[in-house]
Amino acid sequence: MKPERMTMLIRLNRYIANSGITSRRKSEEFILQGRVSVNNKVVTDLAYKVDDEKDRVMVDEEKIHPKKHLYFLLNKPKGVVTTTDDEKQRKTVVDLIKTKERIYPVGRLDYNTTGVLLLTNDGEFSNLLTHPGNKIPREYEVKIDNPLAEEDRIKLLKGVSLDGRNAVFIKVFINDSSRKNVKVVAVEGRNHFVKKMFGALGYTVLKLNRKKFAGVKADIPLGAYRKLTRIEVEGIYKQYAK
Ligand code: URA
Repeated sequence: MKPERMTMLIRLNRYIANSGITSRRKSEEFILQGRVSVNNKVVTDLAYKVDDEKDRVMVDEEKIHPKKHLYFLLNKPKGVVTTTDDEKQRKTVVDLIKTKERIYPVGRLDYNTTGVLLLTNDGEFSNLLTHPGNKIPREYEVKIDNPLAEEDRIKLLKGVSLDGRNAVFIKVFINDSSRKNVKVVAVEGRNHFVKKMFGALGYTVLKLNRKKFAGVKADIPLGAYRKLTRIEVEGIYKQYAK
């Protein structure tokens, strides 16, 4: 599969900061001071967006070279660790993706959890999606050991105590008559969150698959990966960046 060419419209200050010459805040000062040009025209508008493939951006008349950002969706299979390097030499999620760039996973899925995992080299993107305050939705298919009692379904929605803090799923659907196959949506990513939520009510999670993360679906086979589209990346920034 030929990877899609990723061009993105990004805020000028972010583009400058990506080149490593300075921070985003300082980049804004450079813009206001008239030190930044785009395609040979000075730009002093902080909201200005540049095309990261086509536009020629100069700071103090020197062309800058921002780091190319990569964004992958992996449909994580079982038996793979969510890390960049495993001390026990087990296969990692990064081993499954062919790229020369250093990328890392956005958050984590357990060794035997399957489904949507994003990987990137864009620290800002990763922070955005892992910051608890941003309440990023994560949808899971869960198989549990016993039928989910209706009162427990309500408790999962109203809140259970996890490590001394109240925790909820924002949605809980029963998928079949056995009541052992459940779909849940969480907006927090504490380690083992889904297993702990069910564990708090005496259920054991037998199977866990993340169907969606931040609106991105597992639309490729298990073990496969693809680049996120420009629209997906821009959509995530638009929706969650303050
Ligand atoms: N919650 C879990 O318990 N495990 C995962 O892998 C993801 C969410």
